[in-house]
Amino acid sequence: MAFPREVVEEVRARTDIATLIGQSVALKRAGRGMVGLCPFHNEKSPSFNVVPHKQIFHCFGCGASGDAIAFVMKARGLTFVEAVKDLAQAAGVALPERDLTPEERARLSARQDLFTACETAASLFARTLLALPEGGPGRAYLAKRGITLETATKYRLGFAPEGWDRLARHLQSQRVPPQLGAQAGLLKRRENRDGVYDVFRNRLIFPILDDRDRPIAFGGRLLPNSDPTAKDEGPKYLNSPESPIYKKNEVLYGLSWARAAAQRKDRLILVEGYFDAVSLWQAGFGEAVATCGTALTERHVERISSHTRKVYALFDGDSAGLRAAQKSLPILQAAQVSAFRLNLGAAKDPDEFVQKQGALAFETLLSSGEDLIHMVVRRIVEEEGRDGMAKDRVMQRVTGFLRDLPSDVTRETATLYVAGLLNLRADEIRARAFSQADARPLPRVPTPSNWIPSRELVHLLWCLFRKPAEVAPIIGRVDPDWVTDRGDVLTAMVSIGNGMPFTQVLQDLEGSSPDVARTFRAIVARDDLYKEEDTVSAAQDVVLRLEARAVDAEIIAINAQIEAMLKSADKSSYRGMLEALSGLNKRRQQINAAISRTRAPA
Ligand code: CTP
Ligand code: MN
Repeated sequence: MAFPREVVEEVRARTDIATLIGQSVALKRAGRGMVGLCPFHNEKSPSFNVVPHKQIFHCFGCGASGDAIAFVMKARGLTFVEAVKDLAQAAGVALPERDLTPEERARLSARQDLFTACETAASLFARTLLALPEGGPGRAYLAKRGITLETATKYRLGFAPEGWDRLARHLQSQRVPPQLGAQAGLLKRRENRDGVYDVFRNRLIFPILDDRDRPIAFGGRLLPNSDPTAKDEGPKYLNSPESPIYKKNEVLYGLSWARAAAQRKDRLILVEGYFDAVSLWQAGFGEAVATCGTALTERHVERISSHTRKVYALFDGDSAGLRAAQKSLPILQAAQVSAFRLNLGAAKDPDEFVQKQGALAFETLLSSGEDLIHMVVRRIVEEEGRDGMAKDRVMQRVTGFLRDLPSDVTRETATLYVAGLLNLRADEIRARAFSQADARPLPRVPTPSNWIPSRELVHLLWCLFRKPAEVAPIIGRVDPDWVTDRGDVLTAMVSIGNGMPFTQVLQDLEGSSPDVARTFRAIVARDDLYKEEDTVSAAQDVVLRLEARAVDAEIIAINAQIEAMLKSADKSSYRGMLEALSGLNKRRQQINAAISRTRAPA
């Protein structure tokens, strides 16, 4: 260990774990502690506990646990030394530098210097916008855009005035070296002579913050033609380049303000522009974040899914919008996030919509958001048409899309949507999309090394591994499709149920399905999911939950079918559908009652 023990103790003592974790995970009070959605695995109901009086965290879902230092290491991918250093800095504890390796010291201080450079710049920009005479054009532009000073203060908006060296001079006066300003993307070297010049000029500044609310980058909106003869003003938006503290595909603009609201309202609104996020906050929608022109990434979704599993996003009504939706869906589905499409109608963006039509209209828009899976399928049908030939092309595109969905349950939901929209039987579609007879590559085995079992399945496997003889028959009573869509997983489960030794099953999996083998090993290694005597009833409970998910999917699909039928001329199946729906609803209630009688999975 690179630090004296007392120093590490001092860092622990001066760090409040609830405050620390609360910066990136929305926590709710629960008894003496707090709970939230675990940032280290996918879950829908919170099993991530923070225990302030013990200064530890613990996730009952994935087993992650530890103190503040462990949290920082795991959450930010830092080494022990880096984590201690980071926490020490935040807590104002002085560390003996000598014990760090030279590389560690260099890396840490480089990051630290970049934070300082960005903070210094953000302060100047904000002060200029709110208080300095040179901020006049910025204030006028804000007013024109309908943004109040209160909103500007909240979002730390700023203004970079015209001229070439306002920031350069300020950074110098604050002893921030020009190379740092350049590395942070704030300054550029002059081409023909020595020195640097300001990158952001005559722009409204949107600082981008990290999850500890430190400015790490900036977006600058050009003010419209203050001088029509001026040229070379550059693009409408200038954005900071990547740096050691700023990774574009990880950052969501506005997340530091949106975390709490997203958790409270259990939804997140995903927009494209800085102005959209800010305007929505001003209109009462604090749960809005912007992707700033980049496509949605897994890392984005990961950051979202620790706060809510419901996302409202904008997708254009053209084929580019359809492609974007089709690209985002697997990422969202993999994190068990459901997505709904916001249809702004004639408005250009949410900023314009909410400023012109108001908050109530926007709330109505949210409540009529279309499920993204539904949207994709519907749009494919619309693009191809409904005649005989078109049906084939629709099937081809839709089955391709179905195969790309990562989860068996969403795939089933989508299949049922398609059935409703095309007036086909779900069996037919399943046969087309997933049967081995089809000439296409086998859809039932997604790319290896990429298997993410649902939480339910993890629990079920755990029970099966403990008590194969008793748990296997419970699983055998339900539709295997509810359990998993991976043939190799099912086969292994059956083998275990039939008494094949675990090591033998692992050995068989090792060659063909290393991802499954690895996951099995991780699951069997967990020693405390349920008490010995609860294992069988827990398995029963999980199976009920799996059935509940399947029933939910069917309910959604029947609703879609009913909707489609109401639009068509033939209403003969109406009664049958209503009966089916009421049967499903009844079964759903039974399941609910049954689940609430047994102990919920930890
Ligand atoms: N963007 C960018 N560079 C550009 C244009 C846009 O980085 N040259 C990013 C910005 O993050 C911007 C978002 O894409 O906020 C959306 O762009 P756009 O719709 O053109 O701008 P708005 O946010 O609507 O800005 P405004 O309302 O000021 O026109
Ligand atoms: Mn706009």
